[in-house]
Amino acid sequence: MCGIVGYIGQKEAYPIVLKGLKRLEYRGYDSTGVAIIQEGNLQVHKKKGKVAELEEAVVGKNMHSHICIGHTRWATHGEPSDRNAHPHLSNNGRLAMLHNGIIENYAQIKKELLSKGYTFKSDTDTEVLLNFIQDIQDNNKSTLEEALRIALKRIVGAYCILLIDQDDPETIIAARKGSPLVIGIGKGEHFLASDASPIIEYTKEVVYVNDYEIAIVKADELILKNLGNEKQTPFIQKLDMELAAIEKGGYDHFMLKEIFEQPDTIFDCLRGRLLHDQHQIVMAGVDNHIDALTNASRIMIVACGTSWHAGLVAEYMIEELCRIPVEVEYASEFRYRNPVIHPGDVIIAISQSGETADTLVALESAKEKGAFIFGVVNAVGSSIARLSHAGAYTHAGPEIGVASTKAFTGQLAVLSMMALKMAKAKGSISDERYVHLVNELASVPEKVKEILTDTSKIESIAQQYKGASDFLYLGRGYNFPIALEGALKLKEITYIHAEGYPAAEMKHGPIALVDENLPVVFVATKDMYYEKVVSNIQEIKARKGQVIAVATVGDTVLPTMSDNIMFVPEIDEVFAPLLSVIPLQLLSYYVGIYKGIDVDKPRNLAKSVTVE
Ligand code: F6R
Repeated sequence: MCGIVGYIGQKEAYPIVLKGLKRLEYRGYDSTGVAIIQEGNLQVHKKKGKVAELEEAVVGKNMHSHICIGHTRWATHGEPSDRNAHPHLSNNGRLAMLHNGIIENYAQIKKELLSKGYTFKSDTDTEVLLNFIQDIQDNNKSTLEEALRIALKRIVGAYCILLIDQDDPETIIAARKGSPLVIGIGKGEHFLASDASPIIEYTKEVVYVNDYEIAIVKADELILKNLGNEKQTPFIQKLDMELAAIEKGGYDHFMLKEIFEQPDTIFDCLRGRLLHDQHQIVMAGVDNHIDALTNASRIMIVACGTSWHAGLVAEYMIEELCRIPVEVEYASEFRYRNPVIHPGDVIIAISQSGETADTLVALESAKEKGAFIFGVVNAVGSSIARLSHAGAYTHAGPEIGVASTKAFTGQLAVLSMMALKMAKAKGSISDERYVHLVNELASVPEKVKEILTDTSKIESIAQQYKGASDFLYLGRGYNFPIALEGALKLKEITYIHAEGYPAAEMKHGPIALVDENLPVVFVATKDMYYEKVVSNIQEIKARKGQVIAVATVGDTVLPTMSDNIMFVPEIDEVFAPLLSVIPLQLLSYYVGIYKGIDVDKPRNLAKSVTVE
């Protein structure tokens, strides 16, 4: 994880880097640091805690410089502390480096360096790599760039690094493998960052650095090379993103803003694709590969966390509508268990960030084995998007709150369109049902808006249950993955233990937890399982559990047997997840707020999990 920012140019570099680090805090926020060069003097300032704490610590200090690199950390090697914060200094005090990723063979290299007399101030793998570079430079009398190249060939792991040398205040050297790096091109200045959000304010022209590339960045020059020292042509792209999209826009938290954006983000995702009047779905990525998708003997979906929950919903949709078997895999398991993959197998990869290390590596090995990779990704130009053979962006815009909300409904919208389109092409759906579902899907943005019009009931439920120590979330069919998602959201931003379960499975174990103190959230909208879920609710009530139900507007039965109820509009059960997840996002948000938690940056989490 970790966020990285760098600037070189005519402006004051530190304020630009500081602002960028604040934008990247979603990637990690346990310590922060910057390095600048002032008149040939390399200075590092770093501090445990969020970016604001570093900002405070340097007040009154001379931060004047035209070169600066900065880092906001999510600890992997070594606890969060001042000394483990990046950037690190080399033993000779000349080089400063920061790093996002993990060097897997650092222990062996550290042993070698210790035997040569090197000392280490931190517990990090980064400081080992830096001193390894210094060692190579000293021994070979090579340039920093050459030494870096040699070092990178030896190390195993993932990295995005920024490196500066006090003897060369005109250059930032960067390199990446597995962790993202974007370079913004300004007039006589360059910006470096883990994603485009720190850059967008200054320029829309960017270069996404590829794996195994080294960038030599000066104010007015950008040179890209591969590890074989061959120059690469930078591919300059235009960013399609506005600054407003990454600012809070009047909301107290990004998470709340992102929840409320969902009518628009779902609409944007459907726009131009779901041609509602013509009952057509146009998705170039699907259209161009429709045979590969519909003739697949099975489809595997690979993802993590919330994106995995979207995958589960897709499993229900694709199996029901397209009659193609689907397996949903945790990327972290899939990548290590030697899965059976045949050439032509279809893998749908789902990821908000497009940078999740487990998903990325799982896809790389599946691709090597000949699988066809279809990416459902939010972050444009991200590693997973670029690795995929084809794909469809979710167009949810930048998601800053650590807990995923609008990206999830964007994923569901894309997967819904895909399933419908594939079913139509395969002939596994009747024309009548197809038209009905197209109309239902088109109605989602308005219905989400309806749910968001009045949140007072959800706020009062949150107030009532904020002291609970456990929650159970239950659902069946399409609502089962939503029970899992509701429980995950609650855990993440309220620190309350919660479990999601298929409602019927409850009696095989979790029912033992039920007493008068246990809130049980039932996702119980009107669908083919409704009667059965009502029976499950009765089983909970008979054991004095507190029932909170998500129900369909107009339901007169559930209010008689629930302690609290949150309504969503009626919709075909296939798309129920797009609506029933909204009250659960809000419930978690308000419980988190009542508990005084920083919901945008909950402890131990990071937005983009670029380490395994
Ligand atoms: C939950 C959450 C995480 C992510 C997971 C995958 O709110 O944000 O569980 O869903 O880390 O991340 P992406 O989708 O970026 O691959």
